[in-house]
Amino acid sequence: MLTGSLIRAMTTLTDADALEGLRDALGLLKDREQVAERLLASSAKHSFDPDKELDWDAPFEDGKWFWPPELVSLYDTPMWRRMSEEQRILLSRHEAAALASLGIWFEIILMQLLVRHIYDKAATSAHVRYALTEIEDECRHSKMFARLIERGGTPSYPVSRAHQNMGRLFKTVSTTPGSFTATLLGEEVLDWMQRLTFPDERVQPLVRGVTRIHVVEEARHVRYAREELRRQMVTAPRWSQEFTRVTSGEFARVFSVAFVNPEVYRNVGLDRREALAQVQASGHRREVMQTGAKRLTDFLDDIGVLRGVGRRLWKSSGLLA
Ligand SMILES: [Fe+2]
Ligand SMILES: [Fe+2]
Repeated sequence: MLTGSLIRAMTTLTDADALEGLRDALGLLKDREQVAERLLASSAKHSFDPDKELDWDAPFEDGKWFWPPELVSLYDTPMWRRMSEEQRILLSRHEAAALASLGIWFEIILMQLLVRHIYDKAATSAHVRYALTEIEDECRHSKMFARLIERGGTPSYPVSRAHQNMGRLFKTVSTTPGSFTATLLGEEVLDWMQRLTFPDERVQPLVRGVTRIHVVEEARHVRYAREELRRQMVTAPRWSQEFTRVTSGEFARVFSVAFVNPEVYRNVGLDRREALAQVQASGHRREVMQTGAKRLTDFLDDIGVLRGVGRRLWKSSGLLA
């Protein structure tokens, strides 16, 4: 059995996959299977169909926000103080749509990464069955976000052409640990914001419903990606670990720039350049982004991703203090 696996390991695409094959052969897969079994059981109990679960036809309530004001990019800047309450709420509406658009972009990349991750693995394993379950979740989420954008009556906000092409390249060539690092970056900061959004009574009920569903289902995705990444940072070859450190720092930089599409400012009647400069200079915003990333950066530090050049890139992204 060991020999067969070794031959398979030597002929797989990357060294990371090869080591994974070796580990499987040595019977070290159990823990991974146990994690996946638990996630499958939780998925069977707590999964939602947003089309049936949420009241999509209810009118929006006057005076309610589409995103908590403290999490809107311009909050507490000089520009914010000059804006009327109505214009602030309109900005929250556009930013919610921009974040939903970003979410769809991430999820579509993630679905492809998951499909690549399981391509060489046994379909009968719990690990693969859970990956397929997660893809199902993400399909529902992306449809839910698209429906939210449409219902909100704003444009959708695709990422820039450069980021779109960067994503195309990344999802095609990424290594396994690189993929799970990017997954966590995409999931954890938005998740932190959504955990503040769904219980907030100042926020529109539809937005609260969407974020509640997403938080419940994402918690499993974060668990799956963390467990896998922790494993990968022990077993992947050194070059792959080092590559993960550098690319994760680069993702953090892209992520912090792509986080809110600057077209939102123009669409609510603000000067785009001035708004961007004020967001850049905002201490409140820096704190929000760093607090949102803290759970993730603590974890990445713990498993050895935040070292050397990678750490410097993380710092320059503004997500790491
Ligand atoms: Fe999702
Ligand atoms: Fe997810």
